[in-house]
Amino acid sequence: MSSGPTCAVIASKCPDIKVTIVDINQARIDAWNSDKIPIYEPGLEELVFAQRGKNLFFSSDVDAAILESDLIFVSVNTPTKKGGIGKGFAADLAYVEAATRRIALVAQSSKVIIEKSTVPCRTAESMRKILDANHRPGVTFDILSNPEFLAEGTAIKDLFAPDRVLIGHLPSETGVKAMQALSSVYARWVPQERIVTTRLWSSELTKLASNALLAQRISSINALSAICEATGADVDEVSYACGLDSRIGPKFLKASVGFGGSCFQKDILNLVYLSRSLHLPEVADYWEQVVIMNDYQKRRFGEQIVRELFNTITGKKICVYGFAFKKDTGDTRESAAIALIEAFVKENANVQIYDPQVEASQIHYDLTHEADITDAQYEKLITVHKNAYTAAESSDAIVVVTEWDEFKTLDYKKIYGTMKKPACIFDGRLILKPEALREIGFKVTTIGKAA
Ligand code: UGA
Repeated sequence: MSSGPTCAVIASKCPDIKVTIVDINQARIDAWNSDKIPIYEPGLEELVFAQRGKNLFFSSDVDAAILESDLIFVSVNTPTKKGGIGKGFAADLAYVEAATRRIALVAQSSKVIIEKSTVPCRTAESMRKILDANHRPGVTFDILSNPEFLAEGTAIKDLFAPDRVLIGHLPSETGVKAMQALSSVYARWVPQERIVTTRLWSSELTKLASNALLAQRISSINALSAICEATGADVDEVSYACGLDSRIGPKFLKASVGFGGSCFQKDILNLVYLSRSLHLPEVADYWEQVVIMNDYQKRRFGEQIVRELFNTITGKKICVYGFAFKKDTGDTRESAAIALIEAFVKENANVQIYDPQVEASQIHYDLTHEADITDAQYEKLITVHKNAYTAAESSDAIVVVTEWDEFKTLDYKKIYGTMKKPACIFDGRLILKPEALREIGFKVTTIGKAA
């Protein structure tokens, strides 16, 4: 995800630098070269259209790009391993290794290679070994770590004004030179004091640590949300009042149905695996609890919905608002919607889904591949709608899973009129106004708030 936005911003800020994005997937490259780029990210399309063909190119000719580049970003997938040693926890580095081998094989001049993918600590060391063992005589490689901290939905904003750019390097003379070369690219638009340089391993660990610390805050507030529901406290009030302490701060303290996205869970599991490999079981358990709490929050919300609907949702119509893992993105990876809908289907409910950005084909793929739902169950129980109103028609309940702004301003009076009664609404994102909805007649349940 990160390479498209990052490269588009570099191309836009550095007109004298030629940026080529290569991918072995021809269909994806064709999409980047078309009128409809393959990812939805506010501001990205404009940047790509402005630079494409000038100093920003998309190509599947990997070798040609390796030959002509001085700096090479390795920005490949590092999914959680699905089998073998470290199954379910460790990162699968097969693509990093393949890319490194390709560079070693093809390069005819010295290069700076930059790890952009999120990788476990000391991956740079493995890359170095591969490069040393395979390079042509006279060709040298320097490796840098330059993790990405942008968030989806705000990628371009984050890249234009980053809190920090982190560059990890070896302390050797050539390592410092390589760091200076990359640093001078960012210095075109990032103030010098925000360009932080560290040892390689610190940089690699910082990426995992940052995501773990952010996710930990969400699991902490979500754990408190359960206490709020049981006691009558209000999690929004608790979060606001805690966040006013400048040592705590207000960000990433919004209770929710659980965090999703391609990074948080994967990176924490990576950290857990690393801790276990280092024989630090207490440390591993500590971080794993963040993911366990997140799974609990999703399960807890699903169970609450069934309970409120008189302990059975068999044959009932549940309308799900939002399928993306957060607003302003079409990305669905690890979205809480997947786990929730799987739970509804297990109870034989009819599920009506509406999301402003996610394509029906993606929803079908996720539910039949990432969840335990068969094609037959999908055909029978799931319908994807093109607007929020038809999705809610004749349903027993609406469940808000993604915090799209659109859901705040719908005509809930009109929606109420088309639903079965009692009409229930479950706010998994704390974005609706419960009082106004209750006045219309809805039974409202909000995470972290007593009914
Ligand atoms: C995250 C980090 O925020 C980025 O800094 C990092 O670069 C990125 O992962 C990555 O490693 O590539 P992202 O996954 O795009 O970015 O999205 P976030 O905004 O962090 O949201 C993650 C999940 O947490 C979403 O499901 C969101 O709805 C949820 N969330 C976020 C909450 O439930 N409560 C909050 O207060 C904040």
